Amino acid sequence: MKYAEIISQMTLEEKASLTSGKDFWQSMDIERLGIKNMFLSDGPHGIRKQAAAADHLGLNASIPATCFPTAATIANSWNEKLGEKIGEFLGDEAVSQKVNVLLGPGTNMKRNPLCGRNFEYFSEDPYLAGKMAASYIRGIQSRGISACVKHFCVNNQEERRMVIDTIVDERTLREIYLTAFEIAVKEGATKTLMSSYNMLNGTYTNENLHLMKDILRGEWDYKGVVVTDWGGSNDRVAGLIAGNELEMPTTCGETNVDIINAVKSGKIKEEVLDECIDRLLELIFTTEEVYKKQRKEFDVEEHHKMAQLAAEESIVMLKNEENILPLKKKAKVAVIGDFAKNPRYQGAGSSIVNPTKLNNTLDCLKEIDVQSVGYAPGFERYGKKNDKLIKEACVLADKADVVLLYIGLDEATEAEGLDRQDMKLPQNQIDLIEAISKVNTNIVAVLSCGSAIEMPWIKNIKGLVHAYLSGQAGAKAVLRVLCGEVNPSGKLAESYPIRYEDVPSYSNFPGKEVSVEYREGPYIGYRYYGTANVKVQFPFGYGLSYATFEYGDLKVESDKVTFTLKNTGNVAGAEVAQLYIGKSSDVIFRPNKELKGFKKIFLEPGETQTVKILFDDKSFRYFNVTTSSWEEEAGEYKIMIGSSSEDVKLSGAIIRQGTNAASPYNKAALPSYFSGKASNVDAEEFETLLGRKIPEAKWDRSKSLGYNDTIGQLIYAKSAFARFALHLINFAYGFLKKIGKRGTANIIMMSVYHMPFRGIARMTGGAFNMPMVDGLLMMVNGHFFKGFRHLLRERKKMRKAAEANQ
Ligand code: BGC
Repeated sequence: MKYAEIISQMTLEEKASLTSGKDFWQSMDIERLGIKNMFLSDGPHGIRKQAAAADHLGLNASIPATCFPTAATIANSWNEKLGEKIGEFLGDEAVSQKVNVLLGPGTNMKRNPLCGRNFEYFSEDPYLAGKMAASYIRGIQSRGISACVKHFCVNNQEERRMVIDTIVDERTLREIYLTAFEIAVKEGATKTLMSSYNMLNGTYTNENLHLMKDILRGEWDYKGVVVTDWGGSNDRVAGLIAGNELEMPTTCGETNVDIINAVKSGKIKEEVLDECIDRLLELIFTTEEVYKKQRKEFDVEEHHKMAQLAAEESIVMLKNEENILPLKKKAKVAVIGDFAKNPRYQGAGSSIVNPTKLNNTLDCLKEIDVQSVGYAPGFERYGKKNDKLIKEACVLADKADVVLLYIGLDEATEAEGLDRQDMKLPQNQIDLIEAISKVNTNIVAVLSCGSAIEMPWIKNIKGLVHAYLSGQAGAKAVLRVLCGEVNPSGKLAESYPIRYEDVPSYSNFPGKEVSVEYREGPYIGYRYYGTANVKVQFPFGYGLSYATFEYGDLKVESDKVTFTLKNTGNVAGAEVAQLYIGKSSDVIFRPNKELKGFKKIFLEPGETQTVKILFDDKSFRYFNVTTSSWEEEAGEYKIMIGSSSEDVKLSGAIIRQGTNAASPYNKAALPSYFSGKASNVDAEEFETLLGRKIPEAKWDRSKSLGYNDTIGQLIYAKSAFARFALHLINFAYGFLKKIGKRGTANIIMMSVYHMPFRGIARMTGGAFNMPMVDGLLMMVNGHFFKGFRHLLRERKKMRKAAEANQ
């Protein structure tokens, strides 16, 4: 142990105190030993350090910081150097605000387009997500502080996120849901990792020994700190045993007592606690180093400019019929759509950044060479039908050469704590597109949202530029793409299915009661669409440019592929060349192609470059559940170089010796997985893949409610009072939605409805403790008065104890 000397001077109480928060955002300090507290701040696409009273819901404004495009946006750049640069800028801002740990990047897979937090995540592909996450981490940590990759792992829905049990087979877990984290840990060398709220195969991730010990600490040799997601600690001692060093936020000492008792009773050896403290001290001391020097303010303008560059490289042009783009100089444009005035540039929840500046389209329009004929909002932001706005917009559209139509999802729809209800654009926007197309067919739509949507309306527009959530400087970046000052080079980091019903997890998302079953196995995103031959609107890896590119001369060698790439267009531009590898096999099922490398190449018109992509440890591996290790199948592999996952430009082959491990599979028992048609796997087949029975997915409504049941489960509480209270909550939610307060309504869902009872103690910073939760549970379980008395008694005890400690 590096800090054995200091640790030997600490009392058991002091050690325990370090393992949980001092308040909502800070860890504990021990002054007499020179141990400072750390400040942990969200993350991920800007700093959210709350200056005044801390609250979990983002209600109190945070100190202004640059709002960079969200992860879902930057992933479209496929540019690790850009990720690293953004990380450096984030790191500088974090240092200027005295932050030790920046809570990001978010590295979960986009399993289903409706996950409310997709906008915070990079991709449906683990390789791309992992590479981008590692690049952010390198950048952030180059400034001396720590990044915190999150949420480890299988946290792919917001519904019941604090208790849901994710049921996933080991191979899928490794290949799809862990690979991005593996890259973040090994290549990004993250110093901190946040465990997710949910359970993995029956155990909270934070306590899951297989995940935390065997894989994270064992196989990946992770030496950093694990922090719980806020309020995500279930059994503190079990978490510590699994190697969780830090519980956040504070429980005002309640869980420290659990740790002290566990050490005293021998349930946990003091050496285990000491090792945790050693890792914590390493994090505290190393991230404090930078603060020994004078802190520098960051340059707001320079950072804003960086946010703009980042957006420019990440915007994806999806349609350009009749070369409607770039806009002709002096073209008469009508700007329509609420988002042109009030940009949609980030999502809602803990990631909300209070931007230093905010561009909007109407202001920035003056800076490009077009003539505006005016602006019309066209639709009400939160979906209300308004024919008058449509009429006004049509009158304006009629006067223009081209209509710039700003559409997308509103911020209350893409929010932490709540999944989207469907994959559609609001009907009032669809009606608007339809109406405008009758008066002017030259429509260029600018789309803002952080995940896939259905586009049945795409036939009505000629140009489509996807801005995703492009941060505080996004509006200007988009205009520069529209007028050709910037040649778009973004490519989708996720597939756009035609209909939600086409999504492989359609029937298994979200889990509504005890669990969610990942029956589609490894077939998420393009792995499914490409293998099962399901047509998509836009494939993974797709994006247009004002230039054209020609691929040639593929050479496959034992350790790499090389090929040439030429810009055959008239303007400079960048292409993202993608390496996919596939293998047909009757022995080991797998998607017909998987991303194993990529390069973004900038080329002048007429320029040719030879591109080299090296194979790595992930190129040919699969996880064998019998040998419990990564293996390689022997035989011929197909090597494909694509401009998207569906547009393969060059292909070759390579023969590999393999590791010759026996196959764990019986093909006849796994027909869906061998065919890739895995969207409707029945229970028996899933159990075969899982290697065990599927656990009961429904609530046992005859049981009393416990710590890990949520407020929403009051629906079957024994006490009529509790059921009534739930009705009130539902009513408040519905009412707030009706009067247009959707953001506040969402907060009720996230922080009340989906909150487990234990969360009441874990998230209230000492205002409530677990014995009081016991009282509350008695009340809802049919012993109202007894419970109420218990609650009051425990409250009194808690207050007395607090007074005695002062
Ligand atoms: C979120 C985390 C976030 C934390 C602190 C949690 O609810 O899941 O992503 O970092 O709160 O705000």
